[in-house]
Amino acid sequence: MSNVTFFSGENVPLEMHKVRMVQKINLLPIEERLACMKEAGFNTFLLKNRAVFLDMLTDSGVNAMSENQYAAMMQADDSYAGSETFFRLEATLQDIFGMKHFLPAHQGRACENIIAKVFVTPGSTAIMNYHFTTTKAHIHLMGGKVEEVIGDEGFKIDSTEPFKGNLDINKLNNAIERIGVENICFVRIEAGTNLVGGQPVSMQNVREVSHICRREGITLVYDASLLADNLYFIKVREAAYADVDIKAITREIGELTDIIYFSARKLGAARGGGILTSNDEMFNKMREMIPLYEGFLTYGGMSVREMEAMNVGLQETMDINVISQTPIFVKAFADELQARGVPVVTPSGGLGCHIDAQRFCSHIPQTQYRAGALAAAVFIASGVRGMERGTMSEQRNDDGTERLSEVELLRLAIPKRVFTLSQIKYAADRIAWLYENRELIGGLEFDEEPKVLRFFFGRLKATSDWAEKLAAKFRKDFGESL
Ligand code: F0G
Repeated sequence: MSNVTFFSGENVPLEMHKVRMVQKINLLPIEERLACMKEAGFNTFLLKNRAVFLDMLTDSGVNAMSENQYAAMMQADDSYAGSETFFRLEATLQDIFGMKHFLPAHQGRACENIIAKVFVTPGSTAIMNYHFTTTKAHIHLMGGKVEEVIGDEGFKIDSTEPFKGNLDINKLNNAIERIGVENICFVRIEAGTNLVGGQPVSMQNVREVSHICRREGITLVYDASLLADNLYFIKVREAAYADVDIKAITREIGELTDIIYFSARKLGAARGGGILTSNDEMFNKMREMIPLYEGFLTYGGMSVREMEAMNVGLQETMDINVISQTPIFVKAFADELQARGVPVVTPSGGLGCHIDAQRFCSHIPQTQYRAGALAAAVFIASGVRGMERGTMSEQRNDDGTERLSEVELLRLAIPKRVFTLSQIKYAADRIAWLYENRELIGGLEFDEEPKVLRFFFGRLKATSDWAEKLAAKFRKDFGESL
C-alpha cells in the first residue's frame, strides 16, 4: 500500500488484500433513520445495528480478520490448563516484544484492573500522556490520581506536529519533582493516544521518558492497544526509523518499558488482551490476580479460538502492508473532508477520522452537547454511526454543573479492512452536505441521565424540532435518494 504510485498522480489508498467474505448492510430512508435516532434517545450507543449503514462507532473487536486467523481458530487446543494454544501465543509475544513473561486477560480494561490493583495505592499518582476512560476509572477506583503531561500541541485541532501524543518532558520532570517519586505509582505511555484523536508517540519520546523513569526508579507502563497505527507512524514520520523494520521497533519499545499491556480487540485484530513484563517481581504480583479476576494462567478469560486469532494477528501486525491500511484510510477520509471545508483534527492519526464539533456546531451552546448533536445529525443524514468524544463523555461536577470538555470531537472509527474507499467517500460526501446545512443542527438535553458513564446509557431529546427540519431539507436536496 505504501509504495504504489499512480500514473494519474492521484493519491489513492490501494488495498493489499482482497475481500472473500461479506456482510450485507442496510441503508434506511432518512425518515426511518430519524425515527431510529429518536428511539435511541439521540445516543448513537443505543442504536440497533440493523439501523446502521456504516458502523464507525469503534474499531474495538470489529476488525476484519485474515484467512490465516480463521484457519488458526480451527486448530485451537482446548484445555483449561496447559493448552498448546497458549504456549504458541506466549512464544509469539515473547518474540515480538522481547519480554520474558506474558499474562493473559479477557480484554484491555481487565489488564488495567490488574495493573491498578497491584501498583496503585490510595493517594498515589499515575503520570501519563493522556488518560483513556477505562484506565482513569481503574486508577480512581484504587484511590489513585491521574496527572496528564501531554504536549500542548496535543490539544490543538490544527497542527503539523507529527507526534501529538508525546509526553512533554518538561511537564514530566516538573510533575515528578512536585509529586515526589515515592508518591508516583507509575508513568504510563499510551500509544496512538485515543482521546486526542489517535495521535502517535515517537520512539525518541519513549526513549527520553524511559531514561527519566530508570534514573528515578519509576515503573514505566506502555499501553499498546493502539500500537499498530503508532508503529506505522514511527516508520513514516520519524526519519531515524524509516529503514528499521517493524519488529525491531516493537522490540525497542519492549526494551525501554517495564510493563506492556494491550487490548487485542484492537492490536492483532482479534479479541482478548494481555500483560507483558521481564521483571520477575512485577510478574509474580500480577500473576496472583489472573486466576482471581480472569481465569487460569493459560487462558485468562479468553477462548482458545480468540488466542489463536490473536497469535496470528500479532504476527501479521509486523507487516507494514497490514498496519498501513487504517492510517492511510483515515488520511483519505480526513483529506476529503478538509478539501470540502469540514474542520477535522490534523495531522490525521490512527483509529479514525475526528471531526471538530466545536467549530462544526459553534452555534450550539456547549452545554447542549455539540459533539453529541453532531453524532446524531451525521447518523440522520447518512446512516453512519460515530461516537461523541466531548462534554457528554464527561461526568458532571459535584455541584451538578457541567464539566465542559476541552475538545468536542465526533470520532468516526475505521475498523481495520472493513470499509471500501467508496463507502468512505459516501460518508465524507454526506458530512460535507451536513456542513453546508450545519445551521439546521440544534442542541440536545438529557431525558434520562445516569450518574456514571452517562454517554453509554443516557437518553436525550432535541431542544427543538431541528431533526425533522434537517430530514426535510435532505429530502428537498436529494429527492428520492436514500
Ligand atoms: N486502552 C486504550 C488506548 C483503548 O483504546 C482501549 C479501548 C482500552 C485501553 C480498553 O480496552 O476495550 O479491550 O477493554 N478502546 C475502545 C474504543 C473501547 O472504542 O476506543 P478494552
